[in-house]
Amino acid sequence: MASRFLTLFVLSLFFVLAASMNQEKVFDVRNYGAYADGKRDNSLAFTKAWNDACQWSSGRSTVYIAPGVFYLRQVTFAGPCKNSITFLVKGTLLAPQNPNFINQEEWILFEYVDSLTVTGGGLLDGQGSYSWPLNDCNKNSNCRPLAMNIGFAFVTHSRIDGIRSINSKMGHFNLYGVSDFNISGVTITAPGDSPNTDGIKIGRSSNMHIRDVTIGTGDDCIAILDGTTNLDISRVRCGPGHGISVGSLGRYKEEKNVQGLTVRDSVFIGTTDGLRIKTWAKSVSEISVSNFLYENIQMINVGNPIIIDQQYCPNGLCDSSGKYASHVQIKNVKYNQIWGTSTTKEALNMQCSRAFPCQGVELSNINLKYVGSDGLVTALCQNVGGSIRGTIVPGNCLI
Ligand SMILES: *[C@@H]1O[C@H](CO)[C@@H](O)[C@H](O)[C@H]1NC(C)=O
Repeated sequence: MASRFLTLFVLSLFFVLAASMNQEKVFDVRNYGAYADGKRDNSLAFTKAWNDACQWSSGRSTVYIAPGVFYLRQVTFAGPCKNSITFLVKGTLLAPQNPNFINQEEWILFEYVDSLTVTGGGLLDGQGSYSWPLNDCNKNSNCRPLAMNIGFAFVTHSRIDGIRSINSKMGHFNLYGVSDFNISGVTITAPGDSPNTDGIKIGRSSNMHIRDVTIGTGDDCIAILDGTTNLDISRVRCGPGHGISVGSLGRYKEEKNVQGLTVRDSVFIGTTDGLRIKTWAKSVSEISVSNFLYENIQMINVGNPIIIDQQYCPNGLCDSSGKYASHVQIKNVKYNQIWGTSTTKEALNMQCSRAFPCQGVELSNINLKYVGSDGLVTALCQNVGGSIRGTIVPGNCLI
């Protein structure tokens, strides 16, 4: 009898202990002095709530942002944290109108965090319309960078799910040095003529999945920069904007290879470019771009549906076209089932480097039509090696 009681006692003690070891806790920013009045700066309250949540060691923690408009000048949420952490945004985070109030690369930055979830359906409002007129990057190659809406640096095993971002001063999401990182259910919006408002910018990152996202901005929907490996993109709705771009690459010595990109089941609507790879003609780095698959993609009134540009020179701010040959090697790039309409005749345009011609380019089941009536759709290819399968319209590119 006594031993049975003892067993029960020990068991219940065990459960109480286990429960206290695994206590999830919510840290509401309002309990740290945050006000949803859209005026007072809440940076300090948010940072304090984050720090407490980050140091919570008894279980998962959640930083909770209730419905309402919370003004934030600039914040950095740094790890490492003691446990998994969720940043739950129900409300709106409002950036300062004045770009001088932000003196870091991103308005909201997460760094050195493991097992982070950013979710809640809330909104990040960059209030970029006040600073877009100050952007002279189309004339000045040393133009002053303005803050991106949100950054993730050295964040691992993490995800963003169900967040909206509008009107960033420059780009919206910036991912650097992240790995095992997923983005889904995200909507990014800025006017088609807003300068440099990239949707998602990725560099030096690995093992990422991006799916079910809607992006319409004045620059790339997704920009993939050097050192990105194993990136899987699917179910993207892109437009307006400049499409999904790899690059520009080759300009700086320390650059790393880009390999293992998949873009599937997506649609481009009214974008200037669709699937683009761009490298500077004058390049110092000898890196490679390899093992890409573009599959099942619809183009609706897209300027350059398929484009490889190894003489990239935006706004004439570089050495003249044709003088230099890029040292970036592009190889093993497959395009399968790409169809729809182009607003330029050159629906398929691959200008590879004469010093490092493209290798292993595979085209299958391509059907692109020119929407204009002043000529026929054409394919332009230079220095491209590879093969074709199935029907290719426009053809005559790889024979
Ligand atoms: C990201 O998505 C992949 C594929 O669905 C999954 O295997 C992986 O566990 C996810 N990672 C995170 C951190 O959510």
